Amino acid sequence: MTSVTVDPSGTFLTWQSDAGPLRFHAIWLRDNAQDAQTRAPGNGQRLITLGDIPRNTTIDTAVLTDDGHVDVRFLPEAKSVRFQLDWLGERAYDRDISRERARLESGVTLWNCDLEENLPIGDFEHLQSDGEALGDWLGNILRYGFALVRNTPAEPEALFKIVELFGYVRETNYGRLFEVRTEVNPTNLAFTGLALQAHTDNPYRDPVPTVQVLHCLESSAAGGENMVVDGFAAALKLRSENPKGFDLLADYCARFEYSGEPGVCLTARQPMIELSPDGALVGIRFNNRSLSAITDVPFHLMEEYYAAYRRLAQLIDEPSSAVSFRLNPGDAFLVDNTRVLHARKGYAGVGTRWLQGCYADKDGIRSTYDAMKRAGR
Ligand code: FE2
Repeated sequence: MTSVTVDPSGTFLTWQSDAGPLRFHAIWLRDNAQDAQTRAPGNGQRLITLGDIPRNTTIDTAVLTDDGHVDVRFLPEAKSVRFQLDWLGERAYDRDISRERARLESGVTLWNCDLEENLPIGDFEHLQSDGEALGDWLGNILRYGFALVRNTPAEPEALFKIVELFGYVRETNYGRLFEVRTEVNPTNLAFTGLALQAHTDNPYRDPVPTVQVLHCLESSAAGGENMVVDGFAAALKLRSENPKGFDLLADYCARFEYSGEPGVCLTARQPMIELSPDGALVGIRFNNRSLSAITDVPFHLMEEYYAAYRRLAQLIDEPSSAVSFRLNPGDAFLVDNTRVLHARKGYAGVGTRWLQGCYADKDGIRSTYDAMKRAGR
């Protein structure tokens, strides 16, 4: 039998929910009131500041209703507010809250080369016309940090149509899009297109672009397959074999820089492995080309830091870590640039390879996905 009791101090109430007792503070409840004077009915935004709520707010009474609500009366305002019990249950904070270091946030699945058998792929026309297909595809990006798209128009700027599925292009000093174009010279049949080590893009930006899209327009040269690597999986492997090395890469900032064109001097001071303040693994920055001199690691730890950096690179480079695929004209892929590293194998022979790339942001993916879920797609 559910019940609600108010502590004699009036500073909190206890709801005996089906999941057990849940306590809520008077100040928390008052600040989260959902009535029309506290929250704008249209957009849900808060209309008051904390300064509008008396510092000595307490709960006078809390009465359950028959239809799953609790009516709470606050003093000294003598204000009554109705709360849905389900709403409170979803926001309960009187529970064990994990602060486990290097934990994954919910919904994230680690992967390795085995995912090649079951690549997350969307068909462009389906993604445009079928909300369920789009929801599944966005959900895969949130889960795995990357996804492919097949059957896009093999036309310049078609990658913008992919971004329009969930958000907006992030324009940079490279433009709204950048060209990745190589013509393999027939007089030089060696590996003219250099392989690139797996990396995240633009770690010298703050904030980094959190999504990259690469779209294939021409691909007649042999080789040049794209690869992606789960940076979270590599970081956690490093931690399991060398916890101190993981901590060094997470607790000390690296420095990244790009100043390769006139008028541009992008610098960032950020760790290679980023944890949230409460310990969740939230980001990877890894790019051998744009790492600059590291000056935030003390002398007595620098050699160990470099050993950890070297080992992380080895783990990223392991063939078993990578998922490979070939992009044909009209194919594209999208990575969460805060988690998944991308690479290109070398290519050779005669032919052309033309991709266009652009940046966008992950908050659009999360927003579109969550809005679809809330709308009960
Ligand atoms: Fe890149």
